[in-house]
Amino acid sequence: MRKFKDVIVIGGGGYVGAVLVPKLLKRGYRVKVYDLFIYGKEVFDAVKDNPNLSLIEGDVRDIPWLEEGLKGIEAIIHLACISNDPSFELDPELGKSINYDCFEPLVKMAKEKGIRRFIYASSSSVYGVKEAENVTEEIDLQPLTDYSRFKVICEEVLFKYADDDFVCLVLRPATVCGYSPRQRMDLIVNILTNHAVNRGQIIVNGGNQKRPNIHIEDVTDLYVKSLEYEDELINKKIFNAGYENFTVSELARQVKEIVGAEVDIIVEPTNDPRSYHISSKKIRAELGFTPRHTIEDAVRDLKKAIENGWLKDPMNNPLYFNIKRMKEIELS
Ligand SMILES: NC(=O)c1ccc[n+]([C@@H]2O[C@H](COP(=O)([O-])OP(=O)(O)OC[C@H]3O[C@@H](n4cnc5c(N)ncnc54)[C@H](O)[C@@H]3O)[C@@H](O)[C@H]2O)c1
Repeated sequence: MRKFKDVIVIGGGGYVGAVLVPKLLKRGYRVKVYDLFIYGKEVFDAVKDNPNLSLIEGDVRDIPWLEEGLKGIEAIIHLACISNDPSFELDPELGKSINYDCFEPLVKMAKEKGIRRFIYASSSSVYGVKEAENVTEEIDLQPLTDYSRFKVICEEVLFKYADDDFVCLVLRPATVCGYSPRQRMDLIVNILTNHAVNRGQIIVNGGNQKRPNIHIEDVTDLYVKSLEYEDELINKKIFNAGYENFTVSELARQVKEIVGAEVDIIVEPTNDPRSYHISSKKIRAELGFTPRHTIEDAVRDLKKAIENGWLKDPMNNPLYFNIKRMKEIELS
């Protein structure tokens, strides 16, 4: 059941937000999207005439402008980010300024303004590489990159402010896969599918490394539900959210099965044997959340999007590759 009417999705113009926002509108929320719209406002073409949607162009580092955006808002979903390692490393100072420096001022302001719920998109990359078969939320964090390290610090910052009136939830999703009106082609299942459909060939480096994934429909359903769970179920809590942990070779085989027998899988050696596994038992046990969409569903959706021409030049278009887009716009 809805607890709020007015929500803001900061960074809602990205891959996850472009699927999430229409779902929130459908569920009756009044939604503000606060974003630099690095990937364009066209991602909302299907819902742009919805009177419950407002798009506010702004930088998450611009605290006074963001404060304007927070007027009347009851809950925040915070997705804004330089959201992978290569684009963070392109300009680490810029990455830090967006992913970390402005975070505490934002949280503080949200609390002062009486926002009742703050949902933070962390990442399962905070664990680094673990031998354990099932990495639970309790295990030590060993973030390997600055992108992941700042996710960890932001989780800690957020929880300093949590109380009964300011409910704070951290989600650590696995790598997301599937089709979005703001497509990303730099995520493992999407990369494999793109190559299989457009080149008839998938190159697998190594192959035995495990990679946890979650379908974009499931992760966005989870963000919607995060606005609706009872306070005590989620306040100051952290949840992993993944589907199954497949190896890269298994993912490649699944892609081939859907795209077609003619797809070649070429295995090349790798000097990066890093393997990730996450356990999503806690979220199932405590919130009753179970992913409903498979990796095969994601591959099928993406194949359809490519074949139907919904994506323009999917192997090269900078809009589908965060690092290419960041290089193109020279954000400072
Ligand atoms: N996609 C995944 O596989 C995945 C997995 C785990 C966690 N996450 C996290 O989920 C969140 C959303 O991921 P995504 O895949 O949608 O990323 P994305 O890169 O597609 O979207 C990020 C959005 O943030 C916006 N943005 C960037 N800098 C900004 C700034 N300074 N001010 C305002 N807006 C800004 C961009 O314009 C973009 O719309 C991120 O925090 C990411 O770290 C993503």
